[in-house]
Amino acid sequence: MDDFIDKILISQEEIETRVNELAKQISKDYVGKEIRAIGILRGAFIFMSDLIRNISVPLSVDFMSISSYGDDSESGGVIRILKDLDKPIHNKHVLIIEDIVDTGLTLQHLKEVLAIREPASLRVCALLDKKERRIVNNLEAEYTGFVIPDQFVVGYGLDYAEKYRNYPFIFVLKSKYYQGI
Ligand code: PRP
Ligand code: MN
Ligand code: MG
Repeated sequence: MDDFIDKILISQEEIETRVNELAKQISKDYVGKEIRAIGILRGAFIFMSDLIRNISVPLSVDFMSISSYGDDSESGGVIRILKDLDKPIHNKHVLIIEDIVDTGLTLQHLKEVLAIREPASLRVCALLDKKERRIVNNLEAEYTGFVIPDQFVVGYGLDYAEKYRNYPFIFVLKSKYYQGI
């Protein structure tokens, strides 16, 4: 096993099973509707591609890229749009797709920005939820894959310094690889 892996938190098989369950639930909930799936770059792209391939209602995709000001210190929720949607979402059934909800600041801001555009509905599907880290109150994704502990996880789209997104499972990174010691 690669030396930087502390432990595998969610295996490829567990991800596949859960992603299929989420897709089934979403397909059921949106019967008779068309989904506009919005992937939040970059972390969501792998989850999104697996999820939407298992959704059976009509669907189109768009992408948004945002960044929070500052680094890992608390930014006060100021978030900048680096790439906006290509298409309007007025009257569309929007489903935001995220890899992880952590403090919740990204999602809070995104929901505010998108709600102003008056979609027919606005929901969130997040693969991971690090609930313990939440600083925004009353922010829950309508669809959540796994609630995880506050550990340094990467893989399946999630990065540390842009690395490890390509691993097909979610793992805890050994601390010496992110603490630089
Ligand atoms: C990560 C993750 C979420 C966000 C969650 O993205 O993909 O989008 O942070 O954090 P929050 O709940 O504390 O706001 P990141 O900014 O690292 O960009 P990336 O998706 O390109 O890795
Ligand atoms: Mn992200
Ligand atoms: Mg990141």
